[in-house]
Amino acid sequence: MTPGPDAADDYVLRHLADEAVDLTGTTVVFGDRTGELVQGLIALDPRCRPVLITDSYLAGRTPGAQAATQVLTTQDEPPERIDVLVVRVPKSLALLEDQLYRLAPRLHQGSIVVGTGKSTEIHTSTLTLFEKAIGPTRTSLAVRKARLIFATPEPSATATAPSNPWPLRYALPVDKVLGPVAGRTVVNHAGVFCADHLDIGTRFMLENLPTRRGTDRVVDLGCGNGVLGLAAALANPAARLTFLDESFPALASARASFAENVPVAQFEQAEFLAGDATEPLRPASVDLVLNNPPFHSHRATSDETAWRMFTGARRVLRPGGELWVVANRHLGYHGKLRRVFGNCDTVAGNAKFVILRATAAPAAPARATGGAVPGE
Ligand SMILES: C[S@@+](CC[C@H](N)C(=O)[O-])C[C@H]1O[C@@H](n2cnc3c(N)ncnc32)[C@H](O)[C@@H]1O
Repeated sequence: MTPGPDAADDYVLRHLADEAVDLTGTTVVFGDRTGELVQGLIALDPRCRPVLITDSYLAGRTPGAQAATQVLTTQDEPPERIDVLVVRVPKSLALLEDQLYRLAPRLHQGSIVVGTGKSTEIHTSTLTLFEKAIGPTRTSLAVRKARLIFATPEPSATATAPSNPWPLRYALPVDKVLGPVAGRTVVNHAGVFCADHLDIGTRFMLENLPTRRGTDRVVDLGCGNGVLGLAAALANPAARLTFLDESFPALASARASFAENVPVAQFEQAEFLAGDATEPLRPASVDLVLNNPPFHSHRATSDETAWRMFTGARRVLRPGGELWVVANRHLGYHGKLRRVFGNCDTVAGNAKFVILRATAAPAAPARATGGAVPGE
């Protein structure tokens, strides 16, 4: 059963209905992670043909999202001319900034722009972004702990507005413990994990990467900006790399970082795949999976996604293939990997993180073919 629109979605849908906003032109929805806004708009006016813009592969697959006339990723060209823009304020202010700058030139004097979110998600900085990228902005009263944002497009003013700062590029520290990626430049699109610095868990993994040779197929699972896969490729240029993430800005970042740092022929060997955990990969096709799993993802909290990544890795690894995971020590992934793989050893550890290795045994235990592990 779907939960129905939450207070923030409900507030904006009511506002559009009360104001009798014409939804028959080009109506764009950004930031709708549940599909409820898309469905709500169609329910308001069946002639509405919403275009959904999303950063998330999973959000684009919800039944509501599938009701959209078109699903674009945050990296695609937005529609030429936007008449109504409905923004569900995303958690990432950077993603909001990037999208408002991308969408603003497609608005016109008569466009309606309404943002919505929980009151706790809308800050002065959120309003400043709307003001800077679009034009004069005000906010509504809070209703059921949700708030609306109204921005009036001022195309002449935004023509001289500061330009979109995204994507960012930065050089990794010149530190020999980082191995082949030390001093390399990485590219980060808005909304990507740790967009402006190297995560300390990722750093620990870089300090302890497996050394392998030959034409291994290596998967950077939940690749973010792809720094783990890049390090594996620089250490072993014969390896064939697959970068996989459910976030479109992450894949764009991994692609750009990889292109920046490897020769063209090596770049052309690599794949960049959007998907949920290892879903797009064939069984028993991979030699090494590198993984810094998310703690929160899409609508899932806790370790639900990590589980899917571990069971998925077990499915796609060849016999003898290895999964290397960096994780907070307190998460206790050691026991979980043992349950999925039947083995797990700790390769390295410090006060905060552990690096765990699980090896696919020649005969796969029947319970490790995907989905949840019984008893969890
Ligand atoms: C902790 S970050 C690690 C990023 C990068 N590997 C690093 O170490 O800097 C986890 C990544 O997993 C991705 N992710 C979350 N849920 C996912 C899913 N269901 N399938 C694939 N990737 C997912 C996130 O978008 C994010 O890029």
